[in-house]
Amino acid sequence: MAADPDSTVSESIATRSSRHRESRRLVEELDRRILTVQADVRDAAALKEAAARAVAELGSLDIVVANAGICEPAKWEDITADSWKDTIDINVTGVWNTITAAAPHMIEAGNGGAVVITSSYAGKKVQPMMIHYTTSKHAVVGMTRGFAVELGLHNIRVNSVHPGGVATPMGSPGVMAAIESSTKENPKVNQMGQPFIGPGWMEPEAIADAVAFLVSPAAANITSEHLSVDQGMQYF
Ligand SMILES: NC(=O)c1ccc[n+]([C@@H]2O[C@H](COP(=O)([O-])OP(=O)(O)OC[C@H]3O[C@@H](n4cnc5c(N)ncnc54)[C@H](O)[C@@H]3O)[C@@H](O)[C@H]2O)c1
Repeated sequence: MAADPDSTVSESIATRSSRHRESRRLVEELDRRILTVQADVRDAAALKEAAARAVAELGSLDIVVANAGICEPAKWEDITADSWKDTIDINVTGVWNTITAAAPHMIEAGNGGAVVITSSYAGKKVQPMMIHYTTSKHAVVGMTRGFAVELGLHNIRVNSVHPGGVATPMGSPGVMAAIESSTKENPKVNQMGQPFIGPGWMEPEAIADAVAFLVSPAAANITSEHLSVDQGMQYF
């Protein structure tokens, strides 16, 4: 794990501006409007303000993707209290904050809608050497079901997506090296989660495609479901 338990959090926050610029460019290229807001998902008030601004400027809120997350691999005895807290605060409470900021606008509009929560292979099976991350990704499975029941009353569907390895900064060589060094004492755990197809990692677009399906009319009858995009690794 990183020497500074906060380093993953600060690095994640620092990458956001450039990703926002890229998102803006891609959306505007399609002649569509976009509002980007930089906020910490731990800050419920900031998310509420962002959702209200989006509705005021763009007219409605129909789709919510709660995707922010951190991952700090470490053996159980090396997970610090700070790393545990950051992981639960961002990966679990951050998802709660995101949905509770958005849902009232969807309910008020009365048009239904779709929510997708990004969980993980670690939310279906287990990712060795990250008990905090695995805990957080299982927690949002329960959260998906809970919101699906209550928001279903308003025709809002709630599903989770469970990626395997994705080529993003979270799947960067530094993080992979940390996992590898953490598993040195117990190498057999490295045999877990082998893919049935493909190399065991994917481009982010593979996950975006699954999210686009879940929020589309093609998934109109799917709610409270947990869709894996993992090349089969959950069953190995
Ligand atoms: N990369 C993988 O192999 C993989 C596998 C399974 C699941 N996931 C999940 O996919 C989601 C996206 O991860 P990624 O692979 O793009 O990782 P990433 O590190 O590249 O991106 C994480 C994103 O979360 C944002 N973020 C982190 N902390 C935040 C905070 N406190 N407030 C607001 N935003 C914050 C970052 O700015 C960044 O945009 C995460 O929920 C992650 O757990 C990733």
